Amino acid sequence: MPKDPLTPYGNRPMVTPIVHAVNYEYESFEVLRQITDGEVDGYTYHRDDNPTVRAVEKTVAAMEGAEDCIICTTGMAACTMVYLTYLHAGDHLILFHDVYGAHYKVSLILERMGIDITWLDAAHSHLIDEHIKDTTRMIFLETPTNPLCKVIDIAAMRQAADRVGAMLIVDNTFATPYHQRPLELGAHLVVHSATKALGGHNDLMAGAIAGSKDDYDKLWFTRQAIGTTLDAYSASLLERGLKTFELRAQRMAENGLAIAEFLAQHPKISHLSYPGLPDANQYEVSCRQMKNGFGGMLSFDVGDTEDDAKKFITELEVIYHAVSLGATETLVCIPYLTTMLYLPPERRLGFGVLNNTVRLSAGIEEPDRLINDLKQALDKI
Ligand SMILES: Cc1ncc(COP(=O)(O)O)c(C=O)c1O
Repeated sequence: MPKDPLTPYGNRPMVTPIVHAVNYEYESFEVLRQITDGEVDGYTYHRDDNPTVRAVEKTVAAMEGAEDCIICTTGMAACTMVYLTYLHAGDHLILFHDVYGAHYKVSLILERMGIDITWLDAAHSHLIDEHIKDTTRMIFLETPTNPLCKVIDIAAMRQAADRVGAMLIVDNTFATPYHQRPLELGAHLVVHSATKALGGHNDLMAGAIAGSKDDYDKLWFTRQAIGTTLDAYSASLLERGLKTFELRAQRMAENGLAIAEFLAQHPKISHLSYPGLPDANQYEVSCRQMKNGFGGMLSFDVGDTEDDAKKFITELEVIYHAVSLGATETLVCIPYLTTMLYLPPERRLGFGVLNNTVRLSAGIEEPDRLINDLKQALDKI
């Protein structure tokens, strides 16, 4: 038998070794056969599998309460692998306007391939039955949504999906498994941009899809075919990030709530959206499906114009002006100009992404520093 690449020294190292080999020497044709027939776990070629990646897959699966997990190169690779694995020409897909902006681009590709797509506003998710067709095969949602932090009732969406035998996919990037476990609420698969809170340090890109063993096999086939396997170094960084994930998630949620409570009282802020405020839309649903708090993501409109929002961001001294989210540093951006830029303007405005809407991702800094920074920047507009 080949040596287990994870225990090459007899005792197991405290950190999973970074195995950056592309290929592995076959000890014999018999070993090749055993690996090919699935009789033993073994490694042959990086696009198929890698032990450093496999170790972190097991960790993320456990966090989501899944049987297994596929890790891939980016969050959008994960979402696209889900579409490619389960949808066929003629199938109907329900998507929400309030999903990460790159889905719009992917949707143009899917339409070219014969997928029929309906877009809904997450605020109208309770009307989903009106949009379900006999051909609906998938409902794909985020909750809370990016960027407007709208909350969708996962269990209700599962009931709607079951009426036609469709799959329910939940992108859990905003909530993270610390606050929400979609598989327990009825999702068939949970997707992550592991670039965000799972990695947590703005230094790696990765995607994750967690679900059943059967789904792992199907998604593994797609990943192996199209070559979206994560590199071992990024997998190791992700493993390192996951060691502090819960502590970071706890602090991000405390900071998120403190910032939301501060902004809720501020006269220059409107349309504040944070799922943990008692007067938030769907607060009752948030309390039912989220736990340990409500995460570190919020959105709000600053002043009346794009210039007001730009001035506010320019004046910030502690908080960074950058895209991405879920990291140690607090970040802000104007989604209209960044993450949602590729959507036609009328689509962005139609569901509430205005040119003075700001998305904030709370980091793990000391909360008073963040609130003082927001206060001094708002005082200047
Ligand atoms: C909710 C959500 N899903 C998916 C993605 C895509 O992730 P990635 O940038 O890792 O491809 C993002 C990116 O911001 C996101 O916010």
